[in-house]
Amino acid sequence: MNVIDAIKARRSVRSYQDKLVEPQKLDQILEAARLAPSANNFQDWKFVVVQDAPTRQALVKACNDQAFIAQAPVVIAACSTNPNRLMSSGQPAAAVDLAIAVDHMTLAAVELGLGTCWIGAFDAPAVAKLLDVPDGAVVVHVLPLGYPAKTSAPRPRKSASEVLCQEKFS
Ligand SMILES: Cc1cc2nc3c(=O)[nH]c(=O)nc-3n(C[C@H](O)[C@H](O)[C@H](O)COP(=O)(O)O)c2cc1C
Repeated sequence: MNVIDAIKARRSVRSYQDKLVEPQKLDQILEAARLAPSANNFQDWKFVVVQDAPTRQALVKACNDQAFIAQAPVVIAACSTNPNRLMSSGQPAAAVDLAIAVDHMTLAAVELGLGTCWIGAFDAPAVAKLLDVPDGAVVVHVLPLGYPAKTSAPRPRKSASEVLCQEKFS
């Protein structure tokens, strides 16, 4: 599968099979995160890989009761170890860096027949407490990972003419 095909095939998966993720596949997905680019190549991140069932269950409550999170055999918490750094553009490096790393994982997962769902709705201090994330680090994204239980149709996107413009913003 090439990258464009993976981008087209990716969906947010909110229902998972009762099937473990093979360690070799998990390693490949985590490697996709490790290889992601980051501002100044600082790589101010840590990825907490959760497979313990009671912890995954506890994450449900910390993630606004999104029950499907515990269905996934793996949940990855993408954390920043330098959460307050702003790039010269004024944008927060942590959110950007971790988004790229998580996106790499979502696409690698597709290639390996796995599914993910970005989780942005969560209580960050509660997730941090569950996972022993120390002061000074923050959980930026949560990503359940597993075999999809069903296929879903693509969600709609704005048309190219709505989101693209040439030379000047219009
Ligand atoms: C930053 C971010 C946060 C998100 N948070 C959640 C979430 O907490 N729960 C959820 O079910 N989906 C979440 N989503 C998934 C979006 O709802 C989904 O990507 C969007 O509806 C498009 O659907 P698709 O991913 O299947 O293309 C999030 C997506 C992004 C990019």
